[in-house]
Amino acid sequence: MAIELVPFPLPASADPSKFADFGREVKGINPGTLSPEEFEQVKDALYKHDALLFRDVVLTPEQQYALTKAFDPQSESYGHGNNKTGSTKKSILHPDLKTIPRVPQVQLIGNGTVYNHEGLAEAKLKHPSHTTFHKTRVSPQDEANGITRFYRWHIDAALYDLSPPKVTTLYGITIPKGDPQIVRYDDGTGDELPVPLGTTAFVSGKTMFDILPAESKSLAVRTKVKYAPHPYVWMAPAHAMPTGLGIESEGLELPLGELPDWEEERVKVFPVVWKNPGTGALHFQVHPCGVQELLVDPLPQGAKREGALYPDGAHITDLKVVRETLYKMQRPAISPDLVYPHDWRKNDLVLFHNRGVLHTVVGAFTPDQVRAFHQCNLAASDDPAGPSEEDVVKWA
Ligand SMILES: [Fe+2]
Repeated sequence: MAIELVPFPLPASADPSKFADFGREVKGINPGTLSPEEFEQVKDALYKHDALLFRDVVLTPEQQYALTKAFDPQSESYGHGNNKTGSTKKSILHPDLKTIPRVPQVQLIGNGTVYNHEGLAEAKLKHPSHTTFHKTRVSPQDEANGITRFYRWHIDAALYDLSPPKVTTLYGITIPKGDPQIVRYDDGTGDELPVPLGTTAFVSGKTMFDILPAESKSLAVRTKVKYAPHPYVWMAPAHAMPTGLGIESEGLELPLGELPDWEEERVKVFPVVWKNPGTGALHFQVHPCGVQELLVDPLPQGAKREGALYPDGAHITDLKVVRETLYKMQRPAISPDLVYPHDWRKNDLVLFHNRGVLHTVVGAFTPDQVRAFHQCNLAASDDPAGPSEEDVVKWA
């Protein structure tokens, strides 16, 4: 059957000019039984459009694992390492993940109690809430009136030892009904975004780069971020910003000596900007919560020094400066008109280019609002590529 690509239905809040390439609904093929030719078309579409939606899908965990693995045939273990990081008691990811026993690379996530599910007699799920992660919280009264927040903008990645997954597949099995909510940014801007209950929100890393002023683009293509060892354990005692875009600098991170055993060679240092393997476009891909240091290269020969940030390069280790520098570059891209909040329907399958977008859990459910999703991503067989020499010369 011919593959058909249809633009995502955008909410009124979104600026359509910024979503011309982002997101396509795929029609005419079954994602559980793709032929090699169909898969190549899907892969091509994913790198071009960064998020793909299939509606009314019936997909076993085995099929979901096979589809996810097809993007990187040498990858095998779950993106967080067969749940090792997630199961470390101190990790902030610990409560969010339940593994499907038959296919441990597929996780059951959601809310409420799910019974007799794919070999799990009973699974108690909890939708993560900003109230346990942000430094401040929406008042219970406002929450009752439907006000909420972005939980945590991120890339799906262990950020230590393992390479960031290329794709994440999210399959909505049980979707509770409920009133829409309003995300409040609470950062002094007055920004708000109406969202469907329990949306997953996405922003494009390409747009994040494209909308930066020239001096920030120059800094972005010259900078690498160094993540903390076991970043989810390291950040566990700390609190997030009200936008969910990074951590408040209060000095609460676990000292490196108190982390589980780690080795310097396994610490991840990634370029700020990742090159899309399908289109060659540059995507600003930083998981702000886990970053510890910035390594800035000097301007390349012949670049204009006037107005340049860190023209001679820098190694920034002051956590507050590191975070403020990243926040200034990332915050513009999460403004309400640049966010795609997916309105989940039962049997939706969303594939997203995990190396090309940032995403976040949103909102809050009551315990009786049962939600069940299957999520799969696999630690990649390689690290992401940064900008080419030509890219650096062009943008620095
Ligand atoms: Fe995620």
